[in-house]
Amino acid sequence: MPHEDTGFLRNVPIFADLEERELDKILKLGTRQKYKKGNLVVLEQESGAALFVIISGKVKVVRMDEDGREVILSMFGPGEFFGEMSLLDGMARSASVVATTKSELFMIHRREFLDLLHEFPTVAISLLAELAMRLRKADMQIKSLSLKDAAGRVANVLLMLSDDLGIFRKGKVEIEDLPLQQDMANMAGTSRETVSRMLHQFERDGHVSMKGNRLIINDYEAFRKLFL
Ligand code: CMP
Repeated sequence: MPHEDTGFLRNVPIFADLEERELDKILKLGTRQKYKKGNLVVLEQESGAALFVIISGKVKVVRMDEDGREVILSMFGPGEFFGEMSLLDGMARSASVVATTKSELFMIHRREFLDLLHEFPTVAISLLAELAMRLRKADMQIKSLSLKDAAGRVANVLLMLSDDLGIFRKGKVEIEDLPLQQDMANMAGTSRETVSRMLHQFERDGHVSMKGNRLIINDYEAFRKLFL
């Protein structure tokens, strides 16, 4: 029977291969911390020596562009982690991380996390796989930000969100909990109005269907080919 306290660790993909007693061990290495919506968890440029795993809630990873506008690099939810970069390379925090909802996080300090990677190589391998995936997404975002036209930028954000949150079924992708249009604009490096305009255009052109907070890309492969 799963241990009540380690329940949340069981849902963390990088710990998925571990046994109950190993999860119990990890539980003792860290502390649980609560954050309110809007709280800063990690500040860009500060020195950082801890990794965070999201127990509940959501966070966004942000950097400021030259004009002081926020650019969202990624959004994470339960089971995902952040703060590994400065922990691994000893440099300053690469970005800020802000709680976008009330959140509970599990924090592990550098020394303990490095010990854990030595003791459980499967965690290190999963971590590397996740970092490779994040690099792929960052490559997509670089491409998206370098695109001149609004359609391409907004389409790329939809493709990134599909990878992150999408449910793939019969050639369609359903994104159930579409982020706020302002957040999508900050991911795409464009304005909220442009996001709204492009979503309506995609809908008129039959590429997507929208209902409330739910968006469906009607033919994922075709959409991808058109804009990627
Ligand atoms: P760290 O640099 O310690 O603190 C900020 C964290 O944000 C970083 O570790 C990563 O966990 C996360 N992060 C930074 N850049 C990206 C990105 N492009 N995509 C996803 N996560 C990122």
